[in-house]
Amino acid sequence: MKEIVLKASVKSSVFVGEGAFHRCVPALLKGQKNFLLTDSNVYELYGGLISSVFGNTPLYVLPAGEENKNFSELGNILTAMTEAGLLRTSCLFAMGGGVVGDIGGLAAGLYMRGIRCVQIPTTVLAQVDSSVGGKTAIDMNNIKNVVGMFYQPQTVVVDPLFLRTLPVRELKCGLGEIVKYAALSAEIYKEVLKHIDNLFDLSFLEEITKLCIDHKANVVRKDERETGLRKSLNMGHTLGHALELYDKKLSHGEYVLIGLWYETCVAQAMGLCKQEYGDTLKALARKVVGGIPAVTEAAIGGARMDKKNESAGTVTFIAPISKGIFDTVKLPYEEYVSRILEAAKEAEC
Ligand SMILES: NC(=O)c1ccc[n+]([C@@H]2O[C@H](COP(=O)([O-])OP(=O)(O)OC[C@H]3O[C@@H](n4cnc5c(N)ncnc54)[C@H](O)[C@@H]3O)[C@@H](O)[C@H]2O)c1
Repeated sequence: MKEIVLKASVKSSVFVGEGAFHRCVPALLKGQKNFLLTDSNVYELYGGLISSVFGNTPLYVLPAGEENKNFSELGNILTAMTEAGLLRTSCLFAMGGGVVGDIGGLAAGLYMRGIRCVQIPTTVLAQVDSSVGGKTAIDMNNIKNVVGMFYQPQTVVVDPLFLRTLPVRELKCGLGEIVKYAALSAEIYKEVLKHIDNLFDLSFLEEITKLCIDHKANVVRKDERETGLRKSLNMGHTLGHALELYDKKLSHGEYVLIGLWYETCVAQAMGLCKQEYGDTLKALARKVVGGIPAVTEAAIGGARMDKKNESAGTVTFIAPISKGIFDTVKLPYEEYVSRILEAAKEAEC
């Protein structure tokens, strides 16, 4: 088990590796009133483990799914927390994927103006990305993550134990973020290419998770509030989010990979990204997704609304340049669309 310390506005410890759950959680439960938030799928799979470790800790089981990362469920969680008689010294444990982590982190930040929060991520995406860095949120009015706050967890416990029950779709989702990290870090890039034929193996995922968390922790240490460097973690997300909003058929990570594939094409066409390097990244994305769909002008539309955009009528995205090097690119919306549509000729239907 490895400990990664993230010193941002407050200090967070991330314990990562086999056995982390059983080694850390019983100790973290001692000394205060606790509350557990999980979701219906995790509870069904791990109910026995939960009762053996959490005993009679009050809990709220969120119905699984992004559609429940909403204001009404946030209210239900906060109501359950008041009913459990939590105090300012209490601690909320959020055990589940990114949905539980995001809404649970927000509930912890709001309750009595902030109680301690321990994140126990159980999906690849949550382990490599969402549980670390303190972004919490709910969706509202069909806008993702529009209400939220930066609220760092006290501790994050990352145990590969939970990955064994994940369906392939969720593994692909997490791999989307892992390939994104590969495009940001030369070290992760090298490791991912070394394991190109066993990207779905749990032993690979366990090792790469440590590197991804290290990378994210370094970025968050330097830019907790996403005013600069942290925006790089959105590589592939400008087009990815637009496509995700437009048709919700694939997982978040798959849309990120499709976004990365297209935006790499654009960076290559603009002469920013080294051709061979870009081709390798695109091959990686294609390998995980299994095929890059041709996008339409209507599907790209959401990029106009991306949070990274700095002025109306422009689109900002993070372009890969060469190993571990990336840049922020700003294009007029029309040019962005025409360059993406040009790249779509290389994609497949
Ligand atoms: N806070 C951040 O920095 C950040 C970063 C990236 C994504 N996110 C958010 O994360 C969310 C997506 O996270 P996610 O992909 O983990 O989705 P999720 O939480 O919906 O989990 C995906 C599915 O896997 C199930 N599941 C969870 N653990 C399991 C396990 N061990 N075995 C079997 N099934 C399991 C869940 O019940 C759910 O059905 C989105 O809401 C996104 O906005 C947040």
